[in-house]
Amino acid sequence: MANSKVAGQIDVTAKANDFGAEIGGIDLAAGVSEAAVKAIHAAIIGHKVLVFRDQQLDDESHFAFAECFGPLEGHINVSTRLENLPKMQSFGNLDATGKPTGVHPEGGTLVWHTDKSYVARPSLFTILRSPFVAKEGGETCFADMQRAYESLDAARAERLQGLRAVHDWKRSREKSDERAATAAEIAAAPPVDHPLVRTHPDTGARTLYIGNHASHILGQERAEGEALLADLERHATQDQFIYRHSWRDNDVLMWDNRCTIHCVMPYDAARERRVVCRAVVQGDRPV
Ligand code: OGA
Ligand code: MN
Repeated sequence: MANSKVAGQIDVTAKANDFGAEIGGIDLAAGVSEAAVKAIHAAIIGHKVLVFRDQQLDDESHFAFAECFGPLEGHINVSTRLENLPKMQSFGNLDATGKPTGVHPEGGTLVWHTDKSYVARPSLFTILRSPFVAKEGGETCFADMQRAYESLDAARAERLQGLRAVHDWKRSREKSDERAATAAEIAAAPPVDHPLVRTHPDTGARTLYIGNHASHILGQERAEGEALLADLERHATQDQFIYRHSWRDNDVLMWDNRCTIHCVMPYDAARERRVVCRAVVQGDRPV
């Protein structure tokens, strides 16, 4: 665990392999200075996943913090949008009376994915807080797609160059066994293709751009592309590439979707209470 003070603003404590860092010395609800935004930006570029402990965000201050990093985007699944802040989403396993329903409502989060890779300009950063934290299970796991790429043998990495994966919300819903995509959602998010190996615009690092929304490889037999994607995901989600976040009350998580994939670990949705609230910063077209 390295500890360093960045730009006099925040404390950054890196996790194993520099993947993930805990950020201290800042109160996100109080409003963050321009210098602090720069320092947080530098930290996320360096560590890909940031953990802020003991924060007291509500929906409004969460929204305001997220907006410091760029325009936010809504989700095509309108059922999760907050009424008063439609660019934010909330989902959890509680009914209107606060009782566990027995069902984790967004099955697609239980499988490895990177946020909104099924649109032409997928998400940049996701900022998540959890008003109800499961006591057992329900961790959020992240895999480092830069290290996963860099650990491929050279010949294999070479074979991936120039390939494009098709990302498809409709197919992604089918694979994660959720309610089928609606006609409106399919119209809003037709399949798109992105480079299988993308270059991070801030670091120049190459990363694997995969996950459940990736359906197959453009120009290849579907089955062949599916097998390649599954194989790359198996490689990329080995223990040595993972940071597993065990939630505490008042945590805020922020991650870079360009170089990570993530998923929620199972929990007992009939007994535990787990609710998250998220804001997503719009990204650019992957190259
Ligand atoms: C998300 C997501 C993870 C979680 O909000 O994009 O995948 O831990 N959530 O709920
Ligand atoms: Mn997600």
